[in-house]
Amino acid sequence: MKNLPLLFCGILIALAFSFTGLVLSSYIQLGSLAQTTETLDEVGNPVAGDPLYPAKMSGSAQQGKAVYTDLGCVYCHTQQVRRAGYGSDIEREWGKRHTVARDYVTQGTVLLGRQRVGPDLMTIGDRQSDANWHHLHLYNPKITSGGVSTMPQYAFLYETRAIEGAGSVHALQFEADSNYAPAAGYEVVPTDRAEALVEYLLSLQLNYSLPEAQISE
Ligand code: HEC
Repeated sequence: MKNLPLLFCGILIALAFSFTGLVLSSYIQLGSLAQTTETLDEVGNPVAGDPLYPAKMSGSAQQGKAVYTDLGCVYCHTQQVRRAGYGSDIEREWGKRHTVARDYVTQGTVLLGRQRVGPDLMTIGDRQSDANWHHLHLYNPKITSGGVSTMPQYAFLYETRAIEGAGSVHALQFEADSNYAPAAGYEVVPTDRAEALVEYLLSLQLNYSLPEAQISE
């Protein structure tokens, strides 16, 4: 083994190259990204006084994100809108613009996802802003998808109970002739986890521009 030092040097160089390529160059490119304003001033700084984007998530949406992670929604849903020409995300109206690295800088754990068994959810809060719709969909996806959906039911996030007095203001609103409505005298009420999860879904919006990714219309 007279070439052992050479072999050792080779391994070291290979490791150093991959570390530079994968870790260091990404860090140099993206490590200093911060919130910014929709446009920049003449010298390329955020415009003083304008709101900063992406905005930080509310506390209850953060809790909902933990439920989302816990229930494995990320295995079927992505949160990334591909640029025009790299897929039909824009044509499908999953976003008015593609997503860029800066869109995720305020998130601790980024839930990009890698499989699309269901639609992308990056802009679901813009596309569907009705909390009751989300609750019905989670309770049983068939309710909102005309009887056919391969998404699992999350009915365990809801409590079916006898109506007491005037009933709960949070109870799910079913259509009058719905086959999925509870029996007369009963109501379906979201648990705290369901409320937080819907809060999170409603917070998923992409209705702001960034200097490097403007909404074109
Ligand atoms: C096994 C795969 C799968 C899992 C797991 C899953 N979904 Fe889905 N999801 C789908 C499919 C398929 C659709 C499209 C049909 C429908 O709307 O029900 C969908 C649709 C949706 C929609 C409506 C999207 C739109 O554009 O209308 C939302 C919101 C959603 N899912 C949220 C969730 C959340 C939250 C979880 C976790 C609690 C979850 N999904 C888990 C497969 C899945």
